[in-house]
Amino acid sequence: MIKKEILDSLNEQINKEFFSSYLYLSMSMYFESKGLSGFSSYMKNQALEEQTHAVKLLNYVTERGGRVLLDKLETPQHEWETPLAAFEAALKHEEFITESINKVLDISIDNRDHATSSFLQWFVNEQVEEEATASDIVNKLKLIGTSGNGIFMLDRELGQRVFVYPPAALSE
Ligand code: FEO
Repeated sequence: MIKKEILDSLNEQINKEFFSSYLYLSMSMYFESKGLSGFSSYMKNQALEEQTHAVKLLNYVTERGGRVLLDKLETPQHEWETPLAAFEAALKHEEFITESINKVLDISIDNRDHATSSFLQWFVNEQVEEEATASDIVNKLKLIGTSGNGIFMLDRELGQRVFVYPPAALSE
């Protein structure tokens, strides 16, 4: 049976992953309102990916005999000054999530819960990728500056992203 301190921190992490999904969906709607359908599509895909992170966590909690308690989500920001500001906010959010995962991992290590520490390693690696991807887009947007042509090209590039919801995420 999983210890309460770990269970509580995993439940909080589930809420954060669902909030990530909500935030990125909100960014998607912001981009849509600006006519940037590629940016919007990219963020919709990111929102779906975040849901799989939450589901991965809740499947694990259940597997360990813990009870998942879903909490309310805070209202996400709706507007950003520019696409760059939105992606800078996404990068900042990912850094916050990395910090949060590290804290849950610290709690599992302090409690000598090796199974949870091992499980969380996937998230540690995933966060390296998440930060790198957001950072890459921030850098591209900085290079582009106010060039309409550059934004148009990046919109086309980001629109290529397709996230396939893995069926295994539902039963893992
Ligand atoms: Fe689930 Fe983007 O961290």
